[in-house]
Amino acid sequence: MTAEQKKRLALFLDLSGDYLRDGYKQAREEYRFIDDEEMPPRGTEVQETGTLPMETGHAGGSARPAERGIDSLEAVEEEIRGCTRCPLHKTRTLAVPGEGVKRPLALVIGEGPGAEEDASGRPFVGKAGQLLDRMLSSVNLSRERNCFIINVVKCRPPNNRDPLPEEIVPCGSFLSRQLRILKPLVLLSAGRVSTQTLLNTSEGIGRLRGRFAEYSGLPLLPTYHPSALLRDASLKRPVWEDLKLLRGKLTELDKHYALEIAEGT
Ligand code: URA
Repeated sequence: MTAEQKKRLALFLDLSGDYLRDGYKQAREEYRFIDDEEMPPRGTEVQETGTLPMETGHAGGSARPAERGIDSLEAVEEEIRGCTRCPLHKTRTLAVPGEGVKRPLALVIGEGPGAEEDASGRPFVGKAGQLLDRMLSSVNLSRERNCFIINVVKCRPPNNRDPLPEEIVPCGSFLSRQLRILKPLVLLSAGRVSTQTLLNTSEGIGRLRGRFAEYSGLPLLPTYHPSALLRDASLKRPVWEDLKLLRGKLTELDKHYALEIAEGT
């Protein structure tokens, strides 16, 4: 077999995998990318929404994409920013839709914005957020390159109290839409509130963490919230064990990530 034939066969096998995982439409879109060149790693596709801090573009026009049957991150973000579905909108400064890359490897799901997030409109930017960034970076992940970060509620609960069911429930459809659009490979739920919400359980985070569960057909790994680590440094070890599980799962699921890990880059 010539080198060219081998390359075509590898491409075919790769696309067949994508087809089985993502369905025909998605595989066809990826084919457009790789027909002339190599498939780009997840997270490197052109950003078409204002999901990173430096980007400000919002969906314009009168008919919302969701109403035309085409949903987009821009549309979801715009709705989140103007949302009045629950009383949290009355006390928020800014809603926090989330940020990161399109088609992330991992979707990180936190609880809800705190004071810094409420002031900036960005998720996980306070002390806990800085620790989250370091946790992700220890396994070659970041919001700039291959992750997306959201919360189960998009507006700050007063005094950082736990969000109430009547605040979580109306926010649920935003999360579902973000999930459908972003198509992450894995979910990392940070802390008790997001984990219990997604898994619909009252089991404690200490019992839920350390193994993959499933949410919406995707592997979901619960771990401690970074703010818990700031209060109790002994939780860093179990979180590191969780991060290694996450790294292992992503190594199985994404060849570009696996290569990066193997090369130690
Ligand atoms: N804690 C969270 O759960 N989310 C944030 O965005 C910030 C702190």
